[in-house]
Amino acid sequence: MTKIGVFIPIGSRGWLISTTSPMTMPSFDLNKTVVQRAEHYGLDFALSMIKLRGYNGPSEYWVHNLESFTLMAGLAAVTKKIQLFASVAMLTMPPALVARMASTIDSIAPGRFGINMVTGWQPKEYQQMGLELTPEHFSRRYDYASEYVQIMRDLWTTGVSDFKGDFFQMDDCKLSPRPSAHIPVVGAGQSERGMQFVAEYGDYNFIGAGGDMNQTTGARDMVAKVEAAARKSGRDTGAFLLLMIIADRTDEMAFAKWDLYKQGTDIEALEWQASQAGQDTVAKEGSTASALVRQIQNPQPTGLLKLVGSYEKVAAMLDDIAMTPGLKGIMLTFDDFIVGMEQFGEHIQPLMKTRNPTLQTEKTAA
Ligand SMILES: Cc1cc2nc3c(=O)[nH]c(=O)nc-3n(C[C@H](O)[C@H](O)[C@H](O)COP(=O)(O)O)c2cc1C
Repeated sequence: MTKIGVFIPIGSRGWLISTTSPMTMPSFDLNKTVVQRAEHYGLDFALSMIKLRGYNGPSEYWVHNLESFTLMAGLAAVTKKIQLFASVAMLTMPPALVARMASTIDSIAPGRFGINMVTGWQPKEYQQMGLELTPEHFSRRYDYASEYVQIMRDLWTTGVSDFKGDFFQMDDCKLSPRPSAHIPVVGAGQSERGMQFVAEYGDYNFIGAGGDMNQTTGARDMVAKVEAAARKSGRDTGAFLLLMIIADRTDEMAFAKWDLYKQGTDIEALEWQASQAGQDTVAKEGSTASALVRQIQNPQPTGLLKLVGSYEKVAAMLDDIAMTPGLKGIMLTFDDFIVGMEQFGEHIQPLMKTRNPTLQTEKTAA
């Protein structure tokens, strides 16, 4: 069965760069509600990003943001079965500390915790605290990430690391207690090198499928690339697709919401995004940085794939996407997370054949 997760609202405005979208101020209570309802509806996982500075512009996009590990530790204590992922901005924390943070959250939620590896793409986010995203960083960030994960894995599996690399020197570095189970490591490599990193060191690779609307075949190429990278490394690393749902009882009602958000597109914020992502001079076409730069050319509030429409339409589109050869799962965002999670749980998921094997049987029997 296709896995479904939620990219939880840890930052203001969620994933809509607009002055007319729900403000979504992040708090523990908001995220607790979203994750507990996701668990109630049988979703498989919840992931929070790490973002240490928002965009310029009137929408205050991502200006207000909680910290990922501490949020997930809190959520670990108030959930029972959903898988939880925190994101680490690798330049800000050493791997031995993050390995221990993961071990700590695993002791709160045994076997339910994993980590999303973030190399960083927005220079000001790092420069504000004295860290530089140099051309050297951009060209070697996945080498850095590989050493980082290797050290964590050594600590988790053996309790000790003596790793010596280009970026890190461990000296009988110890970790105890070790986690009770495998800690999955995920990433979001869109570039060839990013995908290679996840294929060699990770468990899942999150991908986007461009900013189209109601397009169900757009992820095919990216999934095939993730699969090719996995074959090359001889590991079983699956692709997960990130998308946004804007649904309602009727198509008209759903499109009215999207039209409203579009009217408020925050151009200043998109300019900020382009100028920040444009500083990655090493980025090639197909990378995240190049996509973020391009969004201003055809301004809209999100560069994510959007499914907009009635519950029935959205369920059918999700089924089509879930059938993409090789795709292992989908991660959802919503325009409004409280309303959206209820709509998904009550009205959309029950219609999805890929989430309800009985529906498939009924169809075959009929
Ligand atoms: C699902 C998902 C989660 C991400 N989480 C973060 C995050 O927490 N912080 C961040 O700065 N960037 C985040 N990003 C951006 C990526 O980590 C990263 O910058 C980008 O995908 C790099 O890929 P590429 O250079 O290989 O294209 C995320 C992207 C996706 C699709």
